[in-house]
Amino acid sequence: MNSDPFQPNLLADLFPPDNPVEDVAGLEEEKVDLPAVPPEEARTNPERKPDTALTKPMPAAAEQETRPVPAAAEPVAHGRKRPSKALGVTVAVVNQKGGVGKTTTTINLGAALAEQGARVLLVDFDPQGALSVGLGMNPNDIEVSVYDLLLDRTVQLPDVVSSSKVPGLDLVPSNIDLSAAEVVLVSEVAREQLLRRCLEPALVTYDYILVDCPPSLGLLTVNALTAAQAVIIPLESEYLALRGMALLMDTVAKVQERLNPRLEVMGILATMLEARTIHGREVLSRVGEAFGDKLFKTVIHKTIKFSEGSVAGVPILFYAPTSNGAQEYRDLAREVMDRAS
Ligand SMILES: Nc1ncnc2c1ncn2[C@@H]1O[C@H](COP(=O)(O)OP(=O)(O)OP(=O)(O)O)[C@@H](O)[C@H]1O
Ligand SMILES: [Mg+2]
Repeated sequence: MNSDPFQPNLLADLFPPDNPVEDVAGLEEEKVDLPAVPPEEARTNPERKPDTALTKPMPAAAEQETRPVPAAAEPVAHGRKRPSKALGVTVAVVNQKGGVGKTTTTINLGAALAEQGARVLLVDFDPQGALSVGLGMNPNDIEVSVYDLLLDRTVQLPDVVSSSKVPGLDLVPSNIDLSAAEVVLVSEVAREQLLRRCLEPALVTYDYILVDCPPSLGLLTVNALTAAQAVIIPLESEYLALRGMALLMDTVAKVQERLNPRLEVMGILATMLEARTIHGREVLSRVGEAFGDKLFKTVIHKTIKFSEGSVAGVPILFYAPTSNGAQEYRDLAREVMDRAS
């Protein structure tokens, strides 16, 4: 019996060992048509402006409507401090292991980048909808979600983007509807590329698009990897953390080879580290040996503040702006900006 939390069957369906991905139904009809990397002048166009008309206000959870949001530690003017590229970067936050800090990283890295003045779009790509809830959204109030964006041709990105309580941080929400997508997508033409097509127009508006993936390597995650230029892999700093990494790296390599040649692993992020334990330090040093420079210098330590921030429906940068956790995500944001430029 396989006790792994990930889903090897789904992966096997997508990339059967004896069946190259080109043979998978749907790809034959429509040749993989990956976008060329934009010409350098387009990437460095200083004229690109944030499009505030793209968003609508977020329907807040009823009990959170009256809760004041604490001010960010350092207010910034959005749109002034930008990465060097004029077109944004899409980053998939991926690990098929559950509960490793993907959603926490997506929210707080997004907030930290926004605090630096970047325009950031978070895409909740997990049917659990934890990212949407973590940003204060009530799943019952979500009328159109990423599911509609993917599968309903009449729904466009502006129809599903909501502004969050955090200045500069927008959200494409998700709810349980998305759980049907893995099944429905199977019969779609170019099924691996739907998310990329939906998000591409937003790269003109946003500096960073962060996609929070579900804990599996199924079609949703493959869509996120196909849409992305970069992958961040949160890795819980515990025993068995490296288990499953070979499968994940193999999936990234296959998507890169067959669907998305631009894709790169930007970095591996050690999360939930208990630095006082010898065990935590040992795991960190093993991860460093295994991944070298790919391991972000920033490490996220374990703290209860992250759970408290989720309950409050705001990132830790707002819930506890001077906490170590907030500072660590600010450090990560700087590393990400460096690696993305
Ligand atoms: N650095 C941390 N210290 C303490 N708790 C944390 C930390 N990071 C995340 N958590 C908590 O751990 C739990 C799992 O985190 P999170 O939801 O971010 O993981 P995930 O990888 O997105 O999970 P899933 O695979 O289910 O989507 C949450 O309750 C979160 O608040
Ligand atoms: Mg999650």
